[in-house]
Amino acid sequence: MIANTNMDTLTSLCKRRGFIFHSSEIYGGINGFWDYGPFGCEMKNNIKKAWWDSMVRTREDVVGLDATIIMHPSVWKASGHLSTFSDPMCTCRSCKKLMRADQVGDILLDGDAGKSLAELLQGGVDAAKIAGWCKGKAKGQAPNLIAVQNADALTLAFHALQDHPEKFATVQAVYTLLAKPDAGEGTPYLACPYCGGELTEPRPFNLMFKTVVGPVDNAENVAYLRPETAQAIFAEFPNIVATSRVSVPFGIAQIGKSFRNEVTPRNYTFRSREFEQMELEFFIRPDEAVELICGHVRTMKDNPDLSTPQTDWGWEIWHKYWVEQRKAWIRRVGLPEADFTEYWQKPDELAHYARACVDIEYQFPFGLQELEGIAARSDYDLSQHQLHSGKSMEVFDEELKAAVSKMDDAAKAAFTEKTVADWVARGKDEEKARKFLDSLFQGRYIPHVIEPSSGVDRMMLALLCNAYDEQKLTDSKGKDDSRIVLHFSPVVAPVKVAVFPLVKNKPEVYNKAREVFEYLRKRVAAFWDEGGAIGRRYRRQDEIGTPWCITVDFQTLEDGTFTVRDRDSMGQERMTLQQFRDKMEEALL
Ligand code: GAP
Repeated sequence: MIANTNMDTLTSLCKRRGFIFHSSEIYGGINGFWDYGPFGCEMKNNIKKAWWDSMVRTREDVVGLDATIIMHPSVWKASGHLSTFSDPMCTCRSCKKLMRADQVGDILLDGDAGKSLAELLQGGVDAAKIAGWCKGKAKGQAPNLIAVQNADALTLAFHALQDHPEKFATVQAVYTLLAKPDAGEGTPYLACPYCGGELTEPRPFNLMFKTVVGPVDNAENVAYLRPETAQAIFAEFPNIVATSRVSVPFGIAQIGKSFRNEVTPRNYTFRSREFEQMELEFFIRPDEAVELICGHVRTMKDNPDLSTPQTDWGWEIWHKYWVEQRKAWIRRVGLPEADFTEYWQKPDELAHYARACVDIEYQFPFGLQELEGIAARSDYDLSQHQLHSGKSMEVFDEELKAAVSKMDDAAKAAFTEKTVADWVARGKDEEKARKFLDSLFQGRYIPHVIEPSSGVDRMMLALLCNAYDEQKLTDSKGKDDSRIVLHFSPVVAPVKVAVFPLVKNKPEVYNKAREVFEYLRKRVAAFWDEGGAIGRRYRRQDEIGTPWCITVDFQTLEDGTFTVRDRDSMGQERMTLQQFRDKMEEALL
């Protein structure tokens, strides 16, 4: 990525080259919805295929699912989405715009008023300049700030800025002061980033899209578009256990659309209202079952080798294992390790049922943001569905049953006391612990889950940001030149190879080039281009990130070789079709 890739430049390239369009653009667009054009959908399919290959096809312990988007509304009651899946939202009393309360400060920085103030603050706080802005540009950019509307309030703000510049070093602090110059110190108030008006108190806003199933539009028929793919996996868990040859530990994976009525969709496709998720729910034994089977539970303190899963792994190692698996995949699709980070949520940030959660974060041009998450979600989801549906989510574990059958009563009593004490120390209910142990001693339990959850659109945006490059070059005659190039990994590149005939008007060369093209397009996404100078054809492919361009020329007719031009080095090599195929397959494997 070039330093500070400009989102506007990237957005316009994506539109110009058919990667991403604003949905329903001919009608003015619809906020938070995006369409993927010819190259965009190829790339998205490549990302999904790479995920599926890595998470399902090449593993013996994961199976797939393709469930419906609309499910029984009770699913969302059980999962907690109906009561808690909400964002705090506030409204501007003046311009009536809605926004997420926790994003007001960021929205301000993106807007005209924020940008003007940031410029004014560049050389330090200058009260006179800020007052000048209030009397001039601010009348258009944030007309409802009190200091913009009222001369006495502006005087008050002016003195505060002059007397205590150290308190007003940020755009948000100055804006807050100008919105309420008489509010005094430490006020948490931040005005509407669009107009400077007063904001309402934050109120929870449920993010699920509602719809009606059937012809009668009443409360009984309300259903929801799924806000995550994960819940379908939990709801289908008993069917999959009953019909597939799976046993814990194993996973169920799904790729599909999810919908969230985001209050403030922003940053291009990063936070959309319709998006695709790639989720795995990987079911593991509770640590207590591992201990009964193996006599011990391995944890991260034992410094385990994470390459091959082991029977004595506890949840902590499984969680770390999936973090490492996901990082390897992200590197594989083209994000270098140096460009993303692991953020381990702090205990007070975790959901009450979660034991750990890692966010993989990427430095987008608009800030460090979550790319995907890997959560250790205990047995929460399956337990909730068992409670609400009345259907058992327990599995029977032969190995566990065999291990328990070797224990005498004293050993069981000791194990019970130890486990109950451990549960109580972790703030859990003693009665529940005893019930859990009753089942466990019969070889039954509700599996725990590790959930790697990734967004296709967000991954694609990160790959686009990372790949984008503008290069200054010198051509063969020593003249200045430039190119835009997307340095995609061949795995995700929408077009793998472009084929050009050197000339159009020599049938032997042209037909040979078509032959090479037809051969390749049966195997990979290939592109035919016969228009314009070869240099211009290269540039067109660079802009969509095609790793290789083949030019068929007169020599091809003699010895079967053609030139293969490498996108990144721009170097050219002659090779045969077989040699090229080997090179390409190695890169794509
Ligand atoms: N089942 C867990 C779950 O859904 P999440 O953190 O809410 O967790 C997982 O979402 C991933 O889905 C995120 O890391 C992100 O990649 C993607 N995602 C979530 N909301 C999104 C949105 N509004 N637009 C685009 N991608 C989104």
